[in-house]
Order: sequence, then C-alpha cells, then structure tokens
Amino acid sequence: MGGSLVEEINKLILGDNLEILKGLEPNSVNLIYLDPPFFSNRNYEVIWGDEGEVRSFQDRWSGGIDHYIAWLKERVEEMHRILKPTGSIFLHCDWHADSYIRVEILDKIFGASNFRNKITWKRADTHNDAKKQFPNVCDDVFFYSKTATYTFNPQYTEHNPKTLKEWYQYLEFEDGTIRKMTKEENEMQVVPKKARRFNLDNMASPNPRPNLMYEYKGYSFPAKGWRYSLETMQKLDAENKLFFPKEKAGRIMLKRFLDEQKGAVVGDLWNDIDQIRGANTELIGYPTQKPELLLHRIIEAASNEGDVVLDPFVGGGTTVAVADKINRKWIGIDQSVQAIKVTELRMQKQQDLFSNPFILQLYKYDYDTLRYKNAFEFEAWIVQQYGGISNPKQRNDFGLDGRMKNGTPIQVKRSDQIGRNVIDNFLSAVQRSDKKLFEKNIKQKEPIGYIIAFSFGKGAIEEIARLKNKEGIIIKLVTVEEIIPIAKKPTITVNVIDKGKDKKGTTEIEFIAVGKSQAGIEFYSWDFDHKENQFKAEILLDKVGNQSWKFKPGLHEIAVKVVDNDGLEGIEIIKLKVNGKIERS
Ligand SMILES: C[S@@+](CC[C@H](N)C(=O)[O-])C[C@H]1O[C@@H](n2cnc3c(N)ncnc32)[C@H](O)[C@@H]1O
Repeated sequence: MGGSLVEEINKLILGDNLEILKGLEPNSVNLIYLDPPFFSNRNYEVIWGDEGEVRSFQDRWSGGIDHYIAWLKERVEEMHRILKPTGSIFLHCDWHADSYIRVEILDKIFGASNFRNKITWKRADTHNDAKKQFPNVCDDVFFYSKTATYTFNPQYTEHNPKTLKEWYQYLEFEDGTIRKMTKEENEMQVVPKKARRFNLDNMASPNPRPNLMYEYKGYSFPAKGWRYSLETMQKLDAENKLFFPKEKAGRIMLKRFLDEQKGAVVGDLWNDIDQIRGANTELIGYPTQKPELLLHRIIEAASNEGDVVLDPFVGGGTTVAVADKINRKWIGIDQSVQAIKVTELRMQKQQDLFSNPFILQLYKYDYDTLRYKNAFEFEAWIVQQYGGISNPKQRNDFGLDGRMKNGTPIQVKRSDQIGRNVIDNFLSAVQRSDKKLFEKNIKQKEPIGYIIAFSFGKGAIEEIARLKNKEGIIIKLVTVEEIIPIAKKPTITVNVIDKGKDKKGTTEIEFIAVGKSQAGIEFYSWDFDHKENQFKAEILLDKVGNQSWKFKPGLHEIAVKVVDNDGLEGIEIIKLKVNGKIERS
C-alpha cells in the first residue's frame, strides 16, 4: 500500500517481499537477516498453508535450482540496495543450495571481498537412519558486509572446560600469594573461596623490537624484546597484571584473570545453540522456526541499539521479537497472512507498556477501525491516500479538509449515506474559498471539488446529477473503498461446555469458536487469562477453534480472536463464574 519509508516506527508488513523491498528507501537498514524457504520440494516447507505461502512455494519450485536462484537473487539485490554502507546481511540456508547462493548471489551482489563468514550452525543431533551417508545436521549462515567498513561487535560464550583446565591453572589470594592449582582442584574445577584464577601469558615480542629491549625491575628483556613499551609495562605493573618469577633470570609474564575475561570469543562454528523442539517450544514450534538465541547472537554482533533490523521472510517473528527485546528498530515482512498475524500476537504477548509501538500493514483495511478512527487523523490520511494534500488548519479553510495538487478542494465525511445538505454546504464553501478556481473548473468542465465518504445517499446522488445537468457544475463523489481496499472484519461466536470438576476442584471447560468471514477463516488464538484489553495468547495458532482449559473456582475472563484470510480479526470476550457450575455473563 504505497511505497513506505523506513520511518521511526516498527512495522509488520504482509506482502511479497520483492514488492515491499522495492518500496523501501536506499541506504536505510543496518542489518538484514533472512531465512528464506530452502530449496527442497518438501511439504514441511509449507508451514502456514495459506494462499500467500502456497503461492510463493509454487512460484519458487516451478523451475528447478536456476529458477530458485533467480527468485532469491532479485530479492537480495533489493536488500543490498536498502542496506546502509555500514550494514550487513546474514543469509540462512542449508546444503540444498548453499554453494549456489554464495557464488551466484552473494559474491555477485555483495562482492567476494565483502564475504565475512560462513557460519555453521549445528542445529540437530545425528539420527539413527544414517545408512548411506553422514546425516546433515548443520545449516549455513552467510555473513556479508555491504562495504569494508561495517558494524561488528565480537561475541563471547562460556569458556570450554578444556580451555579452563589447560590455560587457567594459577590462583592469587587476597594477601597476594600465588600458587598453581592442585591436580584435584584443576580436575574437579574447584577454585578456593576468595582466590582469583588466572593464566600466564608470554610478554616476548614475536618480531625483533630493538626499541623495546629494556630491563625492568632487574629482569632482563627477551631475545627479541618486549611486546609492550616501558610506559605500558609500568601501567600493567600498577594494575597488578605482572608476574615476577623468584629468579631474576626468569621472565616476567602477563597475568590474565579469568574474572576479567568476557568469555571465549565466538568463532564461525556455532554448536552451542539448540534447535527448538518438543517440549522446549518457544511459542509456535514449527520445523523451521529459529531459536531466539541464534538471532540474539547475530543481532548483537552486527548492529547497535537504535539500529534498524529487517527480516524479509519473518515467519513466526523470531528476528523481530529479539530485535525488539534488545532495543533495535525492526521491520518484518511475510507473504503469509498467518505468519504476519502470529508474529503480531507474539509481539503483543512480549510487549509491555514501555515497549515501542508497531504498525501492521495488511492488504485490506478494516471498515470499523477506519470508521471509528480519530476524525482528523482519518481525514488527513485519506486525503493523502487519494493523492491530495491535507489541510493542516482545517477550521480556517471553510471547513474543507484538503486540496488536490491543482488546488481543487476536497471534503471528507467519515460516515455513510451522505445526504443532500452536505453537497449544498460543500458547494457554497468551495465558491467562497476560491471563486476564480471555481469558475475556471466549471469553464474547463473539471470537477469543482471532491467529497470522500463511506457511502452516499440517494438525495446526494440526485443533487450531483442535477448540478451537472442544469448548472454545469461537477462535484465528484468518491467512496473510501474506491481509494483503499476495505473489508469487514470476521464475526465470532463461542460455545462454552462444562466438562466437569476433577478431584482438585478445577473445572474443565471446552470452548468451541466459530468465525465467519467472506475471506475465509485462517485460525483462532486464545487468551485464557485476559486482562484489560491486553491480549496475551496462551494458544497462538489454533486452526480448528476448539480448546479445553481448566479453571479454579472464581471469576475468569477468556478472550478468543479469529483471524481471516485478509488478516482482519474479530474478538469475543467471555466472562465466566466458575463455582461448581459455570455461569456466563
Ligand atoms: C523458513 S520460514 C522463516 C522462519 C523464521 N525465520 C522463524 O524463525 O520463524 C520462511 C517464511 O518465508 C515466507 N515467504 C516465502 N516466500 C515469501 C515471499 N516471496 N515474500 C515474503 N515472505 C515469503 C513464508 O511464508 C515463511 O513464513
């Protein structure tokens, strides 16, 4: 719906990412993560099963690997265009197409010199069915920067126990005494209380440094000199970072305290992040849903707070959920209405009063939301959508709401069945506001003005015809639906069935929801502990509309949302008194 700029606001956009990306400003995004559908003609690739996704699936799959690469390449070209010069891309793929993607897409668009990493993510353990080959348990994530200067923050993880054992073998106590860990302490990895664990690092320069050959506190320099200047040496000494051996013939070493290390630097093999599976589901739990930890590492590494993160294949929303948690701005795009709505619900669940708002851009607008929107906001917005310029000081321009680019007035009525009186008032306002333009338009047989409303009554339509035929005055009536696509949101009814009490006194209740929409119903979401307009779903994606839940005696509020194929939603709130029997109010 119109080319949109990367503004301050976070966004979830329904649509083919190619079209949406084309509408985004160049050089405006800091980081792009994409997890496109893989090149495999497998059913599990179809996650949501709605029209949008199936269309995209057929689109990609219809012509083999060349077709897939072309499909992805034109999208990555747009991503390259919208990245900031300091930005980077992380493309998640697997063995099906990784080599093609690297050579045919990323090297060609970003340039081989901007290749930074091929990250191997071990996402699964081996299965038992490895009879003919080694099982595939890894995905690849290609990291390319747009230019040679880009954002990168090293990431750290816990030290490997083997590294600790081999490297951190010394202890320093509060009184300054130092000793090596005993074999048992090292074996069991126990550090005595109040002791600091450290390792000893060589301070000798690897290359000859004639100017760094100086004696320090009676200790002579290594053959090729020190690694540090005298000044740095003194500073390290003052910070208690130097280890002086008993014998002056020994060599001064650098103490690296474990409690001062951030951990082990993360390399390009990521085998410490588990796939989402079984009971440990983060919300949705479909096969290609990525774990939050994976995105956390990528976003932390390649962006800073306040940066814009984009995921053009947002799926269940992992990227934007993490970006939001760690204070990045974000944009998520998906062609599947289910993916977008599930992501919206996920964001609503995770956000609180202090979170930044976000907007949802669907194909159609909900009649009720527009009809009961703030009047000034609506008038300004619809005038712009019509290609006009809204009037900032409404009240001073004879009540007119805006003008076309040539100055012809526009009036907006946020109601239905507009009557004849509106036409008459508009006509006199137009005449008074700019008589010359009014007369010019009549002479040129152009409209003297435009009235935008949800619908027009018979009286108004007859008056327009009379003015045209009898007086040669053209007023154009425009319905909101002619400007933007509108749909009515789905309706919903819910049946409540008492399934009886158990020994603990909790009552099981079955809910059967039935939604109706011209667009067709996609799914239902349930919040069994609904509070004050904040919908926090316990069940995010229920394709059938049937749930059972257990309730303790007391008052309960349950909310169920129904989502249709346009992404519009209806909600029903059920208030229940549970006490032996259930009463619905
Ligand atoms: C592998 S999933 C992404 C999963 C996501 N990373 C997550 O953790 O939930 C791929 C997604 O791409 C979407 N998709 C496929 N083709 C698309 C297109 N042309 N434009 C936008 N989205 C598309 C699918 O609907 C699907 O949700």
